[in-house]
Amino acid sequence: MNVKQSVFGTLPDGKIVNQFIISNDKMSFSVIEYGAIITSICVPDRKGKISDVSLGFDTLEDYVTRNDKYFGAIVGRFANRIKGASFILNNRTYQLDKNDNDNCLHGGKNGYDKMFWQGQIFKSAAGTGVKFFRKSENGEQGFPGNLSIEIEYILTENNEIVMNYNAKTDKDTPVNLTNHTYFNLAGNGNGSIRNHVLFLDSDKYLTVDKFLIPDGNIVSVTNNAFDFTSAKEIGKEIDSISGGGYDHCFVLSGNIEKCAARVYEPKSGRLMEMYTDQPGVQFYSGNFLGGIKGKNNKKYNIHDGFCLETQQFPDAPNKSAFPSCIITSQKPYSAKTIYKFSVKA
Ligand code: GAL
Repeated sequence: MNVKQSVFGTLPDGKIVNQFIISNDKMSFSVIEYGAIITSICVPDRKGKISDVSLGFDTLEDYVTRNDKYFGAIVGRFANRIKGASFILNNRTYQLDKNDNDNCLHGGKNGYDKMFWQGQIFKSAAGTGVKFFRKSENGEQGFPGNLSIEIEYILTENNEIVMNYNAKTDKDTPVNLTNHTYFNLAGNGNGSIRNHVLFLDSDKYLTVDKFLIPDGNIVSVTNNAFDFTSAKEIGKEIDSISGGGYDHCFVLSGNIEKCAARVYEPKSGRLMEMYTDQPGVQFYSGNFLGGIKGKNNKKYNIHDGFCLETQQFPDAPNKSAFPSCIITSQKPYSAKTIYKFSVKA
């Protein structure tokens, strides 16, 4: 296990952004202090050929100026959408940024994806990694409470990237943190993910309105395009879904011991499993990728990457029937997600 630290770039305000490359003898991934962004995930295919299976850019400048798709980033304070960019908590109305129609997406215009996260290398029994810290002040983005956040990215000997999220507040506040990595197991820039075979351990998903806000209904996946309980190609029924593909929150068991998602790319043989303790996962099929120039001048078109964003339910601050996303000074936030890489013959 090894971690290499180097300078990735300098922010417009002069702050230096470090990159950390964490490797074992089979795979590696890299992260930077801007947005706590995962900038690469390099894993072998069945012949041992290594490719970077995450979408992104080559330079800090690109991440600062044109990462409006949130490649690899931590999103928050509340990942996903909050309807009307407002919510009521303890009889007070809180107003957020309307950065997605009338709604707030991924924390608003000053999301955690655009912020500096102090990184620190550490080793634990579980593996080697980097801890990122950030203090989100009371009122930042419109949210109540000073929030101290610590996010660990760990690589294990079993080719797992483990993400541990912890946050403490001094006032009641909604919190929903996730990582927004786009994967393409054939290698980033190598075409569509429609041929990837997906299993999702989810028998229900949240239906949404045309602005992708949950309408409050949680419905069965049985006999429809949302049923991935038996593995099927992502592309099989994707064209039947309005809005250009999948962009929905699926209900999970929240049991970290159980595989919540498994994705297989038949040509390369690469397989990724996902485990989480979160109640939901936003399965997003890269519907808004439209010819973006990414790493090594590669083009990312619609469906050239997918995200499995583990999280609380979207718009939970306004939906009392959804699992509570409110943390308090007595009840801190914690979440865990694991992405595990292997190959299948
Ligand atoms: C996803 C979201 C999509 C889109 C994307 C960024 O998390 O579900 O609707 O906004 O981020 O382009």
